[in-house]
Amino acid sequence: MPSPRTAAIIVAAGKGERAGGDRPKQFAVLAGKPMIAHSHAALSAHPAIDEVIVVIGSDQDADLREALADARHVTGGATRRESVLAGLAAIEKADRVLIHDAARPFLSAAVIDRLIAALDDAPGAVPVLPVADTIARADAALGDTIERSNVVRVQTPQAFRLDAIRAAHAAWPAGREATDDAQVLRAHGGMVVTVEGESTLEKVTHPADFAAAEARHAAVMISRSASGYDVHRLEAGEELWLGGVRIPHDKGLSGHSDADVALHAITDALLGTIAAGDIGSHFPPSDPQWKGAASDQFLAHAASLVAARGGIIDFIDLTIICEAPRIGPHREPIRMRIADILRLDASQVSVKATTTERLGFTGRGEGIAAQAVATVRVPRL
Ligand code: CTP
Ligand code: MG
Repeated sequence: MPSPRTAAIIVAAGKGERAGGDRPKQFAVLAGKPMIAHSHAALSAHPAIDEVIVVIGSDQDADLREALADARHVTGGATRRESVLAGLAAIEKADRVLIHDAARPFLSAAVIDRLIAALDDAPGAVPVLPVADTIARADAALGDTIERSNVVRVQTPQAFRLDAIRAAHAAWPAGREATDDAQVLRAHGGMVVTVEGESTLEKVTHPADFAAAEARHAAVMISRSASGYDVHRLEAGEELWLGGVRIPHDKGLSGHSDADVALHAITDALLGTIAAGDIGSHFPPSDPQWKGAASDQFLAHAASLVAARGGIIDFIDLTIICEAPRIGPHREPIRMRIADILRLDASQVSVKATTTERLGFTGRGEGIAAQAVATVRVPRL
């Protein structure tokens, strides 16, 4: 039997009115990138998820393009349920679906695993957390207390067998809003089981929730640094590319790609932070498609792998080692270019250069070396 296919829908068509701000909350920057980019990366990177569909408002195309350049998306509706329906209709081929709120940015692979496993036993599964506070009915005065152990806080993503949730939504009375999709499945007689939720999954609703979400996220992130090193030979008749910038010189670096040692060193440093091998394992020199290739695509790929692990690049420190050309005049353009490729602020990129006092291959002008250190934050395993 072929293994079941799983789709994920991120509903992001809301206006974020309670959160305020100059754009809908799902596009506001949180922990280093637009809120929606966090859950999109987690769902896209999960090996069991085959397609991810983002549902946005009819006027949010530009916001989405800025946040997530090539995310698959459809237009949602005036209510969350209408947006979910638009997402369900857009699924190409799946047996199961995870329905997630863009307003819950930080989800781990572990919660996705728990939800998908739970669908073996039931048509629906939701992540829940216990309630710590006393819960009471609120009337004009304090009403009856509700037994705490009888209630849970229900989060998203919510996971369903696709045919079951489609049938349940089709049977739900038009015009009546549902607070979540588990409620819709239960109303149709479908069983919904619970799995352990996560505090980082709490919804961002009000302005104060941004700082709280950022703090919860920071608490599960660890810092990692890794280094990269590369050398290429200097030869007459080659172009010289360093840090993504073309530099006029009587010689250039030779190699299979454009031989940009600086970008190669940074690429390896970034791959090192997530233990993802090295540049040669991703772009083998034996592969003709990389002949003469511009190295910015290698660097952008390494950055996308870091992002797919939920990582955030904090800092890049690059040292270029050569006798000539002089790097000083090119330092700022190189910094700007690296920041541009990695979508960082220039203040997060340092470019240094040194000679080796005419000693060794760099001193004799036979080649240029570069070393880099990348510092990232990634979710603790
Ligand atoms: N949502 C949606 N379509 C709607 C309304 C909401 O896709 N018509 C999405 C939101 O983008 C969000 C999730 O449903 O990811 C949960 O909704 P909520 O937290 O209420 O977000 P908003 O509706 O955007 O916020 P508000 O109610 O404060 O305006
Ligand atoms: Mg709302």
